[in-house]
Amino acid sequence: MSDAVLASDALNFDAIIAAFYQHGWVWLPHFLSNELNTALLHEAQHNANLTPAGIGRQNAHQLNQQIRRDATQWFDGQSDAQQHYLALMARLQLIFNRRCFLGLFDFECHFARYNKGDYYQKHVDAFSGRSNRVLTTVSYLNSVSAGGELALYDEQDQLIDRFRPTAGSLVLFESERFPHEVLPALDVRYSIAGWFRKNASINGVLDPAS
Ligand code: OGA
Ligand code: MN
Repeated sequence: MSDAVLASDALNFDAIIAAFYQHGWVWLPHFLSNELNTALLHEAQHNANLTPAGIGRQNAHQLNQQIRRDATQWFDGQSDAQQHYLALMARLQLIFNRRCFLGLFDFECHFARYNKGDYYQKHVDAFSGRSNRVLTTVSYLNSVSAGGELALYDEQDQLIDRFRPTAGSLVLFESERFPHEVLPALDVRYSIAGWFRKNASINGVLDPAS
């Protein structure tokens, strides 16, 4: 995969930054190239060892099936497809740091699969002052006909919009600001959820990565 095909030709970083500046979130319908999308979807379907997700960083294995029912696997950076995805996100990180002075320090992400009936109840990805997650990203790897929409809410808890996952699309939003939920899936739904983090230290100890 050459650098030129990493991201879709339509990708316009100026437009991304402008929309982000105005709203704090941005939806990009054509973020991944077909080639990268296909490779990542193949890996999520056939190679990844997706297991029921836990909630909370302190106790990642504590399952809470009431709140979320997706199955996830963190990237290990081993495959070509993962490396290309991480390179693409590194480009985004650089641009956001240059243009928005966000001080993004690193990026972590996992594959996720929602089977029919799976959902993730309304939540925020970061609590003010208690997390170093700054930006949330979700790339969607397949198109669904119905169900599994991402519902995004504003700080007053008013619905901003519902987004139907389509292959190659990406949503990006400030992790502390926007409650959101995944509505029950009807079709199996594959995605990559990721977080850009700032370098927070607590009592002089660097916050561990996971
Ligand atoms: C998450 C999440 C949204 C989505 O994994 O924290 O909110 O649309 N995912 O998959
Ligand atoms: Mn979330």
